[in-house]
Amino acid sequence: MKAAILIESLTGNTWRAGELIAANLQQENWQVTGFAPMRSPDHAAIQEADVVVVGTWVHGLFVVGQAPWGVDRIRALPKMSGKRVAAFCTFALNPGKSLDAVTRELLSTGADVIGGLTLQRGRLAAHSEEFAARLVDAVSNA
Ligand SMILES: Cc1cc2nc3c(=O)[nH]c(=O)nc-3n(C[C@H](O)[C@H](O)[C@H](O)COP(=O)(O)O)c2cc1C
Repeated sequence: MKAAILIESLTGNTWRAGELIAANLQQENWQVTGFAPMRSPDHAAIQEADVVVVGTWVHGLFVVGQAPWGVDRIRALPKMSGKRVAAFCTFALNPGKSLDAVTRELLSTGADVIGGLTLQRGRLAAHSEEFAARLVDAVSNA
């Protein structure tokens, strides 16, 4: 399987999670066609990929008002009609409904959103591994 990874990150956690997810997928013999910031998506890598992984982070007042950062950048992604997409959000304390908001935006790009997970920034390695394992399962059971 081939995955393209698109990341929105301010302080590096989400970027790191993307790298960990890429490494976990490669261990499952997946190929990573591209790894890019969401503001400059690699169109060819997205086109070539079977699955696009989109990661961003949660902002808000920590326990209220949480939302995914970079919603406008998700909206500006190339049309991904029928493309399988899996999303994740990194957070510190409480992600609220941020993942639902990311999913909604991705659906509006035409993507087929096959899953998503919130990753706690203090447990990035374990949560990234879990994300990759669930993604591999979802694709192989499809
Ligand atoms: C301005 C700001 C607001 C944040 N608000 C929240 C929040 O409401 N809830 C939460 O769980 N984490 C919150 N966080 C923590 C980030 O979601 C977390 O550190 C995330 O991993 C940052 O990703 P990045 O390192 O890729 O930028 C906030 C961080 C910042 C900088």
